[in-house]
Amino acid sequence: MKKLLVALTVAAMLAFAPLALAQDKIKLGFLVKQAEEPWFQTEWTFADKAGADLGAEIIKIAVPDGEKTLTAIDTLAASGAKGFVICVPDTKLGPAVKRKADSYGLKVIAVDDQFVNAKGEPMDSVPLVMMAAYEIGQRQGTELWNEMNKRGWKLEDTAAMVITAEELETARLRTSGSMKSLEEAGFPLANMYKVPTKTNDIPGALDAGNSLLAQHPEVKHWLIIGMNDNTVLGGVRATEGQRIAPENVIAIGINGVDAVNELSKPNVTGFLGSLLPSPDVHGYKTTEMLYNWVTKGDEPPAFTAVTDVVLITRDNYKEELAKKGL
Ligand code: GLA
Repeated sequence: MKKLLVALTVAAMLAFAPLALAQDKIKLGFLVKQAEEPWFQTEWTFADKAGADLGAEIIKIAVPDGEKTLTAIDTLAASGAKGFVICVPDTKLGPAVKRKADSYGLKVIAVDDQFVNAKGEPMDSVPLVMMAAYEIGQRQGTELWNEMNKRGWKLEDTAAMVITAEELETARLRTSGSMKSLEEAGFPLANMYKVPTKTNDIPGALDAGNSLLAQHPEVKHWLIIGMNDNTVLGGVRATEGQRIAPENVIAIGINGVDAVNELSKPNVTGFLGSLLPSPDVHGYKTTEMLYNWVTKGDEPPAFTAVTDVVLITRDNYKEELAKKGL
């Protein structure tokens, strides 16, 4: 009987061994504010890829608001995760996120949007991986300027619609970089009209664009500036609503992956193209950094800027996306 019991116990242990191994896999969270944006879906895909390469399990959770963010951290801790990468829905949640993570001993890396403290200052205590926002904004301004010259537009007939989200530092940097490079190229600052969007999506930017267009019926040609594809697309939709012909609009987005639908439309719109940074690198690199931090104690640098960017248009978007495996 005793022998039988031992044999059964050994058999049971063997049977459950693979399960035990699977449970030993390191778990890491990847939390994003707008899971509906292809940008963040791409980060998730590449976080999973890094997880597969490193032998870690990635727990992906959408965190559209503060409450869901804090609950997600509880969920991660309960499931035995060792840390997480996060793009917060509101950068002012930074201190609360950090406090909760610390209380569970979880490591945190911020991606895309930097945490700010109660005074609104950047929280350098949390490692950050972010696109080189000001430079990418400058590139947006340069490309708009080049295209308006190619079309032979006169400065006196042209204005820029600048859809802003100044409470988000990466957005403020992008739109101010864009305005600065336009200004340096010779575009009058007085013809750049700023309008804030209430939400960082197409409907919010559409409302903002509509209110601006209503104030400037005299403008013949429009350049559209915004912090990402959806903001710029909202501006384009506003011009269409006001029956401004697409040939009188030049809009260039940022994110690239969120512009694929628009660029694959058979009809040409005022949306010329998008600056594609590296959502793949954001997803992969942050996950790898977090893994190395958790398993080897390698603390990531306080700030990692992701710089490479390419302009995708109707002509080249398929090849450019394929080059990055997107
Ligand atoms: C912000 C924007 C996103 C994307 C990322 C890129 O989070 O909301 O759309 O542009 O930055 O870092």
